[in-house]
Amino acid sequence: MENSSKSSCCRRCSASPPKESRRGFLTRAGAWILGAFALAVPSAIGIVSALNPLRQKGQGGDFFRVASLDVLPEDGTPRKFPIIADRRDAWTLFPNEPIGSVWLRRVGAKKVKALCIVCPHAGCFIGYDAKSNQFLCPCHLAYFDLDGIRTDASSQSPRDMDALDEPEIRDGKEVWVKFQNFQTGTPDKIAEA
Ligand code: FES
Repeated sequence: MENSSKSSCCRRCSASPPKESRRGFLTRAGAWILGAFALAVPSAIGIVSALNPLRQKGQGGDFFRVASLDVLPEDGTPRKFPIIADRRDAWTLFPNEPIGSVWLRRVGAKKVKALCIVCPHAGCFIGYDAKSNQFLCPCHLAYFDLDGIRTDASSQSPRDMDALDEPEIRDGKEVWVKFQNFQTGTPDKIAEA
C-alpha cells in the first residue's frame, strides 16, 4: 500500500513541473510581446513624424512662387492655390509636389493677402462659401470673414485663420508667398518647426 501511495505521489510530482513550466513560458512570452509592442508603437510614430514632409526643416518659412497677380479677381474674391515644391524624405527626392495650399485675395492693385488653409481648431481644410462670402471650415462649421476673422462667437476655432506674411509681388506680376504651417488646437499662433 505504502509503495503504491508513494509511487502515485511521485507520478503526480513528476507530472507537475512541465505544466508550471509551460505556464511560465507563456507568461514570459506574453510579457515580451507586450513589451515589444509598447516599444514599437512610439518608435513607429516617431519615424512617421520625422518623415512627414511638412515637419521637415527647410519646408516652413520659405518663399514659393504661387500665382500670377492677374489670375486673382480684382473684386477681392479669394482663390486657393497649391504650394509646389521639391519634397525630400530620408532617401528620395520628389520634385514638384504639392506640400500645402493657401488662400490668396487681392486687396489692392499690387497688394495680396495670404491665409493659411488649415483650420486652427483641428486641422481641417478651410473652404470658401460663395453664398455667404465667408471662409467656412466644414468640420465644425466655423465661419471666418475674408480677413480670416471669426464671425461666430461660439466658433470651435480657438483663434482666427492664420495670416501669412504679406506676399511679395516680384517682377511686377508674380506672387511669392512665405509658406508656413501653424500648430492647431491652441489660441496662440505658433509656427511649426
Ligand atoms: S476643424 Fe475647423 S472648426 Fe473644427
